[in-house]
Amino acid sequence: MPKKFKFERLNPGTNILPSIAHAVGGTPLVDLSRLVKHFRVEGRILAKCEYLNPGFSKKDRPALQMLIEARENGALKPGQTVVERTSGNTGTGLAIACATLDHPFIAVISKGNSIERVRMMKALGARVIRVDQAPGSTPGQVTGEDQKLVVAEVERLVKKLGAFRADQFNLPAILNVHHETTGPEIIKQSGGAIDAYADFIGSGGWFGGLGAYLKAEIPGFKCYAVEPEGAESLAGNTVTKPAHVIQGGGYCLEDLMAIRDMEIDGYLSVSDGRAKECARALARYEGIFAGFSSGANVAGALELLAGNCKGKTVLVVICDSGLKYLSTGLWE
Ligand SMILES: Cc1ncc(COP(=O)(O)O)c(C=O)c1O
Repeated sequence: MPKKFKFERLNPGTNILPSIAHAVGGTPLVDLSRLVKHFRVEGRILAKCEYLNPGFSKKDRPALQMLIEARENGALKPGQTVVERTSGNTGTGLAIACATLDHPFIAVISKGNSIERVRMMKALGARVIRVDQAPGSTPGQVTGEDQKLVVAEVERLVKKLGAFRADQFNLPAILNVHHETTGPEIIKQSGGAIDAYADFIGSGGWFGGLGAYLKAEIPGFKCYAVEPEGAESLAGNTVTKPAHVIQGGGYCLEDLMAIRDMEIDGYLSVSDGRAKECARALARYEGIFAGFSSGANVAGALELLAGNCKGKTVLVVICDSGLKYLSTGLWE
């Protein structure tokens, strides 16, 4: 009998770790009091700093969890190739997990995503396949149509190679990881003194997984979905502008497994300009160097503090590092 696969979670920061994958999670929760003061709103924004993970994003946790669960349940065999579509961050998390758990990894990415992401995944040992955008799409602005082309290539490769698909939109691991790690961490760090959560949605794994956990733990807890202005499909609006700069989500996909059963308490619309303004404010006033979607989450939280949640505490995720956007207009 081969030995059953087991990934032992250790407490990063208090142990010598057997691999960098063990350093995923355990991120700081930071009070954005300077930013709140700058924008003259009332209340608190607490930021879960996922950009401090080994792959510099919120997707390290679900990426690692997908492999752990698949190794544990036998869906992924030792040494089997892993394939997944990515806007860069899941791919980076998977590249790290695959390097440490010894799996070849192929990342499939739209040419619309920034080149830093491609270079980083390659450096981490991934084979990266870049897929042309749909006719009429703009580099830096990845739409649902572009994503469909990426998925088609993933499906072709999985079949051809007999690979394991680390399907970040459909595997329950993307929800489970927040019940196992992120949720308990946040309750411990905050003592549960949080009223609401605003999150920009890609797979919806963070929103659905963490949101459901916190709703169960904190009475009256509210979850607000952040969407790009003009692409507010979850809110039920007609999509007038599917292209936007907020990489990692806002794809206007019809049915997201992760949020299918989720009670959404409201919708927040954020423009490209406002996401950029808030990302810059995070860097300038808080010393937090993050990307567009982190800016969008903060913009959503500011809107809540100016309205529905005046005087309350809102949780946001700092999704990824600003270093991933040096080739974009974010820091020009
Ligand atoms: C930078 C960034 N922000 C936000 C998201 C959305 O996170 P989720 O897939 O958990 O909804 C992603 C997902 O890839 C991302 O890469």
